[in-house]
Amino acid sequence: MFLEVLVADYAGFCFGVTRAVKKAKEAPKPIASLGSLIHNRLVVEELAREGVKPVASLEEVDCGRVLIRSHGVSPDVLEVAREKGLEVIDATCPYVARAQHLAQKLAREGYQVVIVGEASHPEVKGLLGWAGPGAVVVSDREEAELLPYYPRRAVLAQTTQPEEKLAEVAAVLRTKTDTLVVHNTVCHATRRRQEAAVDLARRVDVMLVVGGRESANTRHLAELCRTTGTPTYHIETAGELCRQWFINARRVGVTGGASTPAWIIEEVVVMLAEQEKLMVPEGEREPEKGPEGAELAPAGENNAVE
Ligand code: F3S
Repeated sequence: MFLEVLVADYAGFCFGVTRAVKKAKEAPKPIASLGSLIHNRLVVEELAREGVKPVASLEEVDCGRVLIRSHGVSPDVLEVAREKGLEVIDATCPYVARAQHLAQKLAREGYQVVIVGEASHPEVKGLLGWAGPGAVVVSDREEAELLPYYPRRAVLAQTTQPEEKLAEVAAVLRTKTDTLVVHNTVCHATRRRQEAAVDLARRVDVMLVVGGRESANTRHLAELCRTTGTPTYHIETAGELCRQWFINARRVGVTGGASTPAWIIEEVVVMLAEQEKLMVPEGEREPEKGPEGAELAPAGENNAVE
């Protein structure tokens, strides 16, 4: 088989992640990173070897330096760091910082802030801390339907959410709110990657989305690619590529989440070029059906959307 491999126009490290990794590399060592610096295991391991140690909370840090990752943190966390006398190196992505300040301003103006995103995601947890005591998180229009009437609401989005979701939630809340303001806080990098990935997915037979399984923006890329009906696989490394995925395929598209370094994407492209090295699975795996009848690999396998 001959595979034509196309890489999305925008793929891999975004501006905010590049900036955070640069800050981590330039900081005096050792330094504690509050949470994994980015949602990519391979990069985190590399940084750990250079003296960037991930910690789960500030309880583990009594002195020295702490790095705030691109997801940002709530004001309480910054306050604790100050009280402990820690040197704070703040790598909060400017797009996230903008959303935080917007949330704080809107809460002070009396709006109930509604954040469209994943409640368990660190960016959203941090953002909630800026958004006042009445703030809520909804993941989709169904959850928005459950909210009661409220006179003044402001809707923001986690920076990596699809814009369509923000619009859907806003449409629901318009029926339950007298004054509704909507701020599109989805970042340009996310928007560009999503548009480029969908555009590419429409033009290929198989789509590969490369990135950490914990990476929200990588998972959203995979979800969006699947809506095109093209079989889409979410992989972390080239080692997960499976020959069976490319039977009868002529064109393969590759994209990577905002936390995926270029070298991991390149490894995937190189591996596709050396197809004899692709993993041959033991036994047949039944593909599952996508939203438009597209074939996807089984849930629970390495391409499952988490
Ligand atoms: Fe920032 Fe957007 Fe990247 S919010 S960290 S530029 S995905």
